[in-house]
Amino acid sequence: MMETSTDVRNRVFLITGGTSGVGKAIASSLARRGARIVIVSRNQERGEEAVKAIAETTGNDRADYLVADLSLQSSIRNMSEAFKRKYDHLHVLANVGGAVYFEKQLTSEGIEQSFAVNYLSHFLVTNELLDMLKESGPSRVITVAGAPRFLKNAQIDFEDIQQVNKFSGMRATAQAMFARVAFSYELARRLERTGVTAVAFHPGLVRSNLIRTAPWFIKLYGKLANRRAKTNCEVGVHLAVAKDVETINGVFFDDTMQIMPLPHLQDEQVGRRLWSISEELTSLTPPTARKPHP
Ligand SMILES: NC(=O)c1ccc[n+]([C@@H]2O[C@H](COP(=O)([O-])OP(=O)(O)OC[C@H]3O[C@@H](n4cnc5c(N)ncnc54)[C@H](OP(=O)(O)O)[C@@H]3O)[C@@H](O)[C@H]2O)c1
Repeated sequence: MMETSTDVRNRVFLITGGTSGVGKAIASSLARRGARIVIVSRNQERGEEAVKAIAETTGNDRADYLVADLSLQSSIRNMSEAFKRKYDHLHVLANVGGAVYFEKQLTSEGIEQSFAVNYLSHFLVTNELLDMLKESGPSRVITVAGAPRFLKNAQIDFEDIQQVNKFSGMRATAQAMFARVAFSYELARRLERTGVTAVAFHPGLVRSNLIRTAPWFIKLYGKLANRRAKTNCEVGVHLAVAKDVETINGVFFDDTMQIMPLPHLQDEQVGRRLWSISEELTSLTPPTARKPHP
C-alpha cells in the first residue's frame, strides 16, 4: 500500500510499553522516520536503555522517556503531569503496554493487576492527556488489541470484570483486551468532531517478551512463536502516521490494515457501561459532574 505520511518530525508521539515488543517496534520505526517519541517505561533504567538503543539503531537522538508503573494510577497521573510540563503538544498516543499475569494479585491500590495494566492504564493515560490531544489536533489515540478471531464473539463479563470470583490469567488477559476494544469505540464516539480520533488494532505477530513469567509449556510456545514473529509493526506505524487514516474514527484494524466490524464490542450500551465503571475505578469525575470553568 502506498502511504502518504504526515511530517512526523514536528509531531510528538507517546508510546506506553515502548521498551519491548509491539511498543518498541512502533517506537523504533517512528524514531527512524525522525519523529519526536516519548516512551513510557516502568523505571529509569529500562527507559535509559531504550532511548540509548533507539539512538544507536535509528540515529534519532531525540527519543525521550518518562517513568510510570502502569499498574498504579498514582504513577500514571505523575507521568501524565510530567509529560504536560515537558511537552506542549501530543499528536499520537499509542496505548501498547501490557503484561500477562498467571496468578491473581491486587495492586497496592486494590485493583486486579491484569485489569489495571492491560486495560485501566490505557483508559487513564488517555483521559489524563485528552485535553492536550484535543489542543494538538489533528491527533490520534491508537490502542493495541489482538487477533480478530479472539474478538469476533467477545463479551465483557460486567458481573466480574476484574475476575474477583474465579481467576484465570488467560481469561483476565482476554477480558482486558475486549475492554480495550470497547473503550476505543466508546472513546471515538466521545471524540467526534474534536479533531482527535481513536482506533484499535491487531499488531500481528510481533517479537515479544509477554510470557516471560509463564509456565514452561507456554514459554516454549512463546519461544517458537517469537522465531516466526516480526520485529516491526507496520499496522501500528501506519495508524500513527498515515495521512489517509487521519479522519478514520472508531474502527478496528486487523494486521493487514483492513477494517473489521466487531459488533459485540461496538455496542453503545457496552461502551457506556464500561466507561462508567472505568471512571469509578480511576476516580475520574464524569464531565457532567464537573464544575464549569469560571
Ligand atoms: N506481540 C504480539 O504479537 C501481540 C499480538 C497481539 C496482541 N498483543 C498485545 O500487545 C500488548 C503488548 O504486548 P507485547 O508483545 O509488546 O509485550 P512485551 O514485549 O512484554 O512488552 C510489554 C511492554 O509493556 C511494558 N509494561 C508491562 N507492565 C508494565 C508496568 N506495570 N508498568 C510499565 N510498563 C509495563 C513492558 O515493560 P518492560 O519492558 O519493562 O517489561 C513492555 O514495554 C499486550 O497487551 C498484548 O496482548 C501483542
